[in-house]
Amino acid sequence: MPLPATAKARQLHPAVIEPGLPWLDDRGKHIQAHGGGIIKLDDTWYWFGEDRSRDNDPEKRYVACYSSKNLIHWQFRHQVLALSDPENFGHEWVLERPKVYYHAMTRKFVMYMHIDGRLPGNSSRYSIASVGIATCDTVDGDYRYQRHFRPLGRESRDLGQFIDDDGAAYLIFESRPSHGFYIAALSGDYLDVSREVCFVPAPLEGGAIVNYDGLYYVLGSGLTGWWPNANQYATAKRLEGPWSNFADFAPAHTHTWGSQTTNLIKVVGSTKTTVIYAGDRWRPEEHWDSRYLWMPLEIGDGKLALPEPKPWTIDIESGETSIEEQHQ
Ligand code: GAL
Repeated sequence: MPLPATAKARQLHPAVIEPGLPWLDDRGKHIQAHGGGIIKLDDTWYWFGEDRSRDNDPEKRYVACYSSKNLIHWQFRHQVLALSDPENFGHEWVLERPKVYYHAMTRKFVMYMHIDGRLPGNSSRYSIASVGIATCDTVDGDYRYQRHFRPLGRESRDLGQFIDDDGAAYLIFESRPSHGFYIAALSGDYLDVSREVCFVPAPLEGGAIVNYDGLYYVLGSGLTGWWPNANQYATAKRLEGPWSNFADFAPAHTHTWGSQTTNLIKVVGSTKTTVIYAGDRWRPEEHWDSRYLWMPLEIGDGKLALPEPKPWTIDIESGETSIEEQHQ
């Protein structure tokens, strides 16, 4: 017997976030927003990320955009970037971890992305190590590729986005020769970085930052490619540092419950501020089926813990979350 429409809708779009399971959009397709970035405009969240759909043209790289009002149900908006090798890096060229910033004065949306390829004679397809920029007049329109550069003149691979409570915008980027990562302020028009805010001498990538209760928390993963490791965090009163020592935030043997950090989402509700860990569970052999691990963090007083993944839900108005008892 066919399922009644409401039961089918519930099955397709459960009111819970189920870490590690395929996450279906409003079309019933697995969300393609890997290594993503999330911004909130008015009452809507926008999730951008690598679109690694199986039927993509292998010569192109894609970024998709989804929107949601509750962080649980996501509507596919548009494939906002479908780009052919813009710098002639060769067919193995790389576009990863796109992040979009909205500039309130110029009203432009500025996408940062890790753009890479093989330097002549180099064995790695990640040897160009730079940042690409694309812009658009609307949040989910067709973004136009502009240029690539090395921020602060440094090699840059995994990049992360941080927008502070005062609206100031920062880029986090890992730099292999420096054995650490940089936090850089964006320039006035967001089309470049203008200044080194801090260099953190810890070889971590997938960097993400949140400002919670007067303290900055930074998260990052070890340098083990697609394979998960015990990600770590540190805290500081100011972005400039000094940063505390780094420590695990999940039992080390779980390798961050099989995930890699990508983003921290802060939800300021009427009764609670919740910080969500948004990580990727990569499947490098079948990238289109890479999964997401989102869980509310236990955070406060300089402590951070990622609980064991279980289905959970959030009330976007109050900021309250509840985790299902049943272990999947
Ligand atoms: C990961 C990184 C990914 C991708 C991958 C390639 O560590 O976070 O974005 O670059 O390495 O091996």
